[in-house]
Amino acid sequence: MITIKSPREIELMRVAGEIVGDTHKYLIPYLKPGITTEEIDSLARDYIIKRGATPSCYHYEGYPANICISINEEVVHGIAGKRKLREGDIVTLDICACYKGYHGDSAWSYPVGKVSDDKKYLLEHTEKALFEGLKQVRAGAHVGDIGEAIETYAKAHNLGVVKELVGHGVGNHLHEEPDVPNYGKKGTGPVLKAGMVIAVEPMLNMGTADVYLLDDDWTVITADGEPSAHFEHTVLVTDEGYSILTKR
Ligand code: MF3
Ligand code: CO
Repeated sequence: MITIKSPREIELMRVAGEIVGDTHKYLIPYLKPGITTEEIDSLARDYIIKRGATPSCYHYEGYPANICISINEEVVHGIAGKRKLREGDIVTLDICACYKGYHGDSAWSYPVGKVSDDKKYLLEHTEKALFEGLKQVRAGAHVGDIGEAIETYAKAHNLGVVKELVGHGVGNHLHEEPDVPNYGKKGTGPVLKAGMVIAVEPMLNMGTADVYLLDDDWTVITADGEPSAHFEHTVLVTDEGYSILTKR
């Protein structure tokens, strides 16, 4: 079942989303060569808690960190540790926070210092792919409209669309119905209604779309070792279009 949120629920989800967006803004100045992913993770946890929320990822199905931090060829669910950011890396922070029982979810990829032109291209076009997908969102649209728009944009820019991981509904669970794939066909899939909340989240690769799971059972990496980027917003579906809950 795809839930329609009440005005009260939407209010709480706006707060959760705002905390997620603000956590991103808070962390950006720290994304410099030399910081460990563990340090970033602790800063995120402390900030989210200071704002009266909790990090939704912590212990989610056993996930051992507070936010997901994925570097270069890591696509999603990288686990914080002693690894340091280096000049030229791209790093994705996937941040989820729960406020009074409601979640916000937003991932964003950032350059560390000066990065290659290829990586700049990947960041620019993965972010644009997110907004191409969001342009389709409105009451009456199909979930497949979003997927087709993202896939068409990615293909036109020679980027690989990760298929194993998808966007999702958001509410008092972090992952709700419907699945929101980054591929598909216009006019197919569930119909969106005003009051639904979904996370749209293209993960695009510079090389092959193929990915695999590391032995830690969480980190997903590209099969060819080429970098991957990930941009995600949680949005409320409206009659006119959408409203971003995870504004930054
Ligand atoms: N935003 C991530 C996702 O939708 C959150 C994952 S939490 C984790 O997959 F615990 F699974 F890492
Ligand atoms: Co998500």
